[in-house]
Amino acid sequence: MKGDGRCLKLFLALLILFLQNVKGGEVGHSHNHSHSLRDAKVTVRCIERERQALLAFKRDLMDVFNQLSTWGSEAEKQDCCRWEGVYCSNQTGHVIQLDLGYYSFQGKMISPKLIELQHLQYLDLAFIDFNGSQIPDFIGSLTSLRYLNLSFCYFIGPIPSSFRNLTQLQHLDLSYNHLQPENLNWLPALSSLTYLDLSFIDFNGSRIPDFIGSLTNLRNLRLRSCHFIGPIPSSFGNLTQLQNLDLSYNQLQPENLNCLPALSSLTDLDLSGSFNGSQIPNFIGSLTNLRNLHLSSCHFIGPIPSSFGNLTQLQNLDLSYNQLQPENLNCLPALSSLTDLDLSGSFNGSQIPDFIGSLTNLRNLHLSSCHFIGPIPSSFGNLTQLQNLDLSYNQLQPENLNWLPALSSLTDLYLSRSFDGGQIPDFIGSLTNLRYLSLHFCNLVGQIPSSFGNLTQLQHLDLSYNHLQPENLNWLPALSSLTNLHLSRNNLSTVFNWPEAILNKLPKLVALTMVNCSLPPPPTPILSTTLYKTNSSTSLAYVSLSDNHLTSSIFLWLSNYSTSLVTLDLSNFWTMLNRALNLIVND
Ligand SMILES: *[C@@H]1O[C@H](CO)[C@@H](O)[C@H](O)[C@H]1NC(C)=O
Ligand SMILES: *[C@@H]1O[C@H](CO)[C@@H](O)[C@H](O)[C@H]1NC(C)=O
Ligand SMILES: *[C@@H]1O[C@H](CO)[C@@H](O)[C@H](O)[C@H]1NC(C)=O
Ligand SMILES: *[C@@H]1O[C@H](CO)[C@@H](O)[C@H](O)[C@H]1NC(C)=O
Ligand SMILES: *[C@@H]1O[C@H](CO)[C@@H](O)[C@H](O)[C@H]1NC(C)=O
Ligand SMILES: *[C@@H]1O[C@H](CO)[C@@H](O)[C@H](O)[C@H]1NC(C)=O
Ligand SMILES: *[C@@H]1O[C@H](CO)[C@@H](O)[C@H](O)[C@H]1NC(C)=O
Ligand SMILES: *[C@@H]1O[C@H](CO)[C@@H](O)[C@H](O)[C@H]1NC(C)=O
Ligand SMILES: *[C@@H]1O[C@H](CO)[C@@H](O)[C@H](O)[C@H]1NC(C)=O
Ligand SMILES: *[C@@H]1O[C@H](CO)[C@@H](O)[C@H](O)[C@H]1NC(C)=O
Ligand SMILES: *[C@@H]1O[C@H](CO)[C@@H](O)[C@H](O)[C@H]1NC(C)=O
Ligand SMILES: *[C@@H]1O[C@H](CO)[C@@H](O)[C@H](O)[C@H]1NC(C)=O
Repeated sequence: MKGDGRCLKLFLALLILFLQNVKGGEVGHSHNHSHSLRDAKVTVRCIERERQALLAFKRDLMDVFNQLSTWGSEAEKQDCCRWEGVYCSNQTGHVIQLDLGYYSFQGKMISPKLIELQHLQYLDLAFIDFNGSQIPDFIGSLTSLRYLNLSFCYFIGPIPSSFRNLTQLQHLDLSYNHLQPENLNWLPALSSLTYLDLSFIDFNGSRIPDFIGSLTNLRNLRLRSCHFIGPIPSSFGNLTQLQNLDLSYNQLQPENLNCLPALSSLTDLDLSGSFNGSQIPNFIGSLTNLRNLHLSSCHFIGPIPSSFGNLTQLQNLDLSYNQLQPENLNCLPALSSLTDLDLSGSFNGSQIPDFIGSLTNLRNLHLSSCHFIGPIPSSFGNLTQLQNLDLSYNQLQPENLNWLPALSSLTDLYLSRSFDGGQIPDFIGSLTNLRYLSLHFCNLVGQIPSSFGNLTQLQHLDLSYNHLQPENLNWLPALSSLTNLHLSRNNLSTVFNWPEAILNKLPKLVALTMVNCSLPPPPTPILSTTLYKTNSSTSLAYVSLSDNHLTSSIFLWLSNYSTSLVTLDLSNFWTMLNRALNLIVND
């Protein structure tokens, strides 16, 4: 996880640098402007002790991207109130806000000098990597804090009980650290808290502490993946202001939810992966302000309670990966506000219920892995707002798809293993907003329609594992946005001069798989490096051409991509052409 986090940070840092470059001039100017106005009245507002504290804080960070270049001891940088991420009170000159969330630093620890910032109200250090150090005790003496965000900081060890003194705190986010909280009994002292996030802190199989229910000002409570077991404390019934409750990925008991009906202000409830077995609790239907409801992966069995028909505000319903009965969905048509519906992996058998086509506000519909059989209801043609449709891993009938062109907003269409047999319908080429199209493993035969040439937004095309036998791929060069192209296990033997005609014209292509496509050896006379020379910048990084009838002349073509290639799979090529390879190597 740590590695992933670092990648994310690097990405964010690059993104920030990029954004700064893009709008650099404008930001610089407006900064300039406001400062020059202030300069008329105030010269240097920064308080020297606080400046020294900030410099000490910076010394304990590695600022590889030089994001804190405005922080320094040079004469022109004297006013720390103008430093990046530093905000001072315009009355007292004290630093009141330090906002470094989303910058990319690594550090030893939070410098103890920071204790000088006694007027600090807002401290955001999220995503700064403090390298497995502990949260320092002294944070608890920054008693003016109203906002504290130490999310993703790579802290380990306990949460200091000195936090008890942060009685002004309204927002506390300690999520995504390797903290081992031994005792949180100081928490009730933070009675002003409206936002508490302890997600991914390991509570090692203990119960959710009762006293969290005494934080009656909470609007947001996030306890995702905390390794809590047992019941939800009945004290939660006191959290009547709560709007957003995330208890996902713990091991809770579904029996003791009596407190939850009191939470009638809830707009967002996530209980995914928190239960094992039982029916969906009926009372959820009484939380009539719900907008987002996530009940994925709870091993829920049986019907959807008819009380769900009361959830008329619901926009996002995720019931995926349970064992529900498709018979009892009568309540769902009432949910006409739904924009996102995920029923993936929740049913076993049956036809796709007709009423889904009446949820005309749907933008995202996931019906993957439901063993649905039979036709897709033609009422789906009413879902004209749909952007994302996933019907993969079912056993649907490929006939009667003529409603599909009505879904002109579609950007993502997942049909892997949804059908068995048939040809690709021409009209798929009319879905010109598509960015992602997968028809993987559908036993499709015949041509790839030339109407595909209209899919100029397409980035990802997967036609692999079918029995397609296209005469040509002349439409392919029109797909200039394509980054991923998967054609494995089709018969491309008649697609002749593939490298030149196709691939060199797809400037954004990153990944290409054409495994076992009966590719013929490229005709050697055409294969000269000059003819195949691509533009200097190539992006092709992942290529798999294994199990074809290639000859070593393929290397001439591949050499164009020598700067971008990361992975090259030519398995079975080597055994077939061992001697030819030796020739090249010896050359
Ligand atoms: C902004 O500040 C720079 C350096 O302090 C100065 O050269 C420039 O003239 C200023 N621009 C404006 C619009 O004040
Ligand atoms: C100080 O800042 C606050 C908000 O940033 C503003 O509303 C107020 O007018 C400012 N006061 C002075 C004296 O500039
Ligand atoms: C991070 O911690 C490791 C081991 O504790 C240490 O070797 C390394 O020098 C530290 N890195 C920084 C930047 O402090
Ligand atoms: C917290 O406050 C108490 C009482 O005001 C004080 O005795 C204690 O030293 C404080 N702890 C910290 C870490 O500031
Ligand atoms: C803390 O920072 C993270 C990362 O920027 C952000 O996702 C989260 O919403 C912040 N927490 C609060 C309470 O604002
Ligand atoms: C977690 O709990 C188990 C038993 O419940 C215990 O053996 C283990 O020491 C605990 N781990 C930590 C880090 O507290
Ligand atoms: C919270 O709920 C519990 C149990 O339901 C109750 O005994 C207690 O008095 C309540 N506390 C507050 C602060 O409302
Ligand atoms: C869920 O319950 C089933 C049987 O009811 C049991 O076999 C399984 O181990 C349980 N899984 C978890 C994660 O508790
Ligand atoms: C919710 O629905 C049930 C069954 O459909 C109904 O009996 C009940 O009165 C409804 N409750 C509310 C609060 O609307
Ligand atoms: C789905 O249904 C089929 C027959 O209807 C049955 O053989 C299979 O075990 C069921 N699968 C699950 C996961 O319930
Ligand atoms: C949806 O489509 C069906 C069949 O195409 C049609 O009969 C019905 O009137 C439509 N319903 C709505 C709500 O648009
Ligand atoms: C592309 O779409 C237009 C209409 O949008 C259609 O007339 C044309 O035949 C399509 N082109 C191909 C190659 O199918």
